[in-house]
Amino acid sequence: MPTPGAPTLKVVSHPLVQHKLTLLRDKDTHSGDFRRLCREITLLAAYEALADLPLVDTTVETPLTTTAASRLAGPAPAVIGILRAGLVMVDAVLELLPQSPVGHLGMYRDPVTHLPVDYYAKLPDEMARREVLVVDPMLATGGSAAHAIDVVKAAGSTNIRLLSIIGCPEGAAVVHAAHPDVAITVAGMDERLNDHKYIVPGLGDAGDRIYGTR
Ligand code: PRP
Ligand code: URA
Repeated sequence: MPTPGAPTLKVVSHPLVQHKLTLLRDKDTHSGDFRRLCREITLLAAYEALADLPLVDTTVETPLTTTAASRLAGPAPAVIGILRAGLVMVDAVLELLPQSPVGHLGMYRDPVTHLPVDYYAKLPDEMARREVLVVDPMLATGGSAAHAIDVVKAAGSTNIRLLSIIGCPEGAAVVHAAHPDVAITVAGMDERLNDHKYIVPGLGDAGDRIYGTR
């Protein structure tokens, strides 16, 4: 039973997610399969990350009758992708939320300081009224995710979730310390960071593996 008010961290334990994660980690998985696996894992994990989206009552006319029903409350949730690697997750989430507007936050980790460096930001309108899902495959030091959430909050958002494919304790702690109100969902929670701030065992550099760069 979660402690009320405590930061939330969900690790998706579904066997399909764990199986696909193993294939994703494999160093011999090439870009095409890597992108497909990211998409499939995102679909399954987003189902968990979005499990508490608020609903409102409505009615629907079926071919037979009119019946009480539910629909998502408010304007469509915003999906915010952290570039580059988050793009592959955005496309997957849009299959579940086709009406959602998309925001892009461009940042890369400085190779020496490992701190995020901004190069682009474009967010949808009405951020204060929308539920928000920030997506990035890797939650390593947590610097990129925490900074992205800063930007989203500065646009007025208050209901924010973070979805990553692989996290580690250090990254989750950094995000929770900066943003205790943000629920984190990961498909896998790994052991630690190495000296270069890569997740171990991890999967290497997500952006490079998605886009076939080095
Ligand atoms: C990766 C990843 C995250 C970030 C995570 O991006 O996609 O955005 O690193 O690391 P952190 O938790 O330590 O901040 P990268 O900086 O490699 O950029 P890319 O997606 O453009 O390759
Ligand atoms: N970014 C990645 O792509 N992988 C890591 O392990 C850490 C940061």
